[in-house]
Amino acid sequence: MKMNELKLVYFSPTGTTRKVIMEVAKNIDLKSVSFDFSVHKEKRPALTFMPNDFVLFGIPVYAGRVPRTFIDYLEQIHGNDTPAALIATYGCREYEDALLELKTEVENRGFKVIGAGAFPTEHSIVRSIGLGRPNKEDLKGISDFGIQLNRRLKAEQPFSSYDIHVPGNHPYRKYGTAGLYPKVDVNLCTECSSCAKVCPSGAISLADPKKTDKKKCISCQKCVRLCRQKARSVSTMKLNMLTKKLTKVCQSDKSADIFL
Ligand SMILES: Cc1cc2nc3c(=O)[nH]c(=O)nc-3n(C[C@H](O)[C@H](O)[C@H](O)COP(=O)(O)O)c2cc1C
Repeated sequence: MKMNELKLVYFSPTGTTRKVIMEVAKNIDLKSVSFDFSVHKEKRPALTFMPNDFVLFGIPVYAGRVPRTFIDYLEQIHGNDTPAALIATYGCREYEDALLELKTEVENRGFKVIGAGAFPTEHSIVRSIGLGRPNKEDLKGISDFGIQLNRRLKAEQPFSSYDIHVPGNHPYRKYGTAGLYPKVDVNLCTECSSCAKVCPSGAISLADPKKTDKKKCISCQKCVRLCRQKARSVSTMKLNMLTKKLTKVCQSDKSADIFL
């Protein structure tokens, strides 16, 4: 079958998943179109992909699962026996059920998974864990994954012949975000609303960006990274506690897992 386009469908609040997906995409010989779900929109048009499209789905792992926000968006995405590959980035702890959940969700929506990878990265909350990852060596492995997917797309074999197994368990782990919603330093905030405009979950009030809806906040850290005034930050006490906890269970030198 002559392939049409590469579609990049991803969620990447702090940009690491985007970096990884772009590295994979570089080695796929198809024109690419991006669908970045990292910015909140009340309504998004439904997307339907064709059997000759190739879709790369990319997510960061949250609590060993697919971020809930991305699962919500997936409801409007449909495939027609469309081949797809999965990318999960995670902060050197574990990815647990995330790939299994993503695979199940996309296959239920008409996609056929022909490859998957879990890539350890810098932890977006505790950045000292996996600091600087993906590094040069990681990027080489990520790029190789793209080369292998590209080969698979060009092989004469039907996509239905690929049977990809990814780790994970049913029922999935309990979902939850770390409860690390940022505080606002009212003396530093200039009410520019940049944070509100880009918040992936629509948790920050556009009219009053000093207000965050704690129920909507997914602790993704996008606003903390983006705020030029450094007005948004996670409580030092909570961050110190999490750093202590995660430093014990994370391994900054973890290797990628590829499923082909
Ligand atoms: C709320 C939240 C939960 C997370 N949960 C996990 C986890 O369960 N395991 C892990 O290894 N990393 C976890 N991380 C780290 C991210 O998965 C990782 O840093 C990812 O690469 C961030 O991607 P992004 O830069 O595209 O947002 C979590 C990060 C956040 C913000």
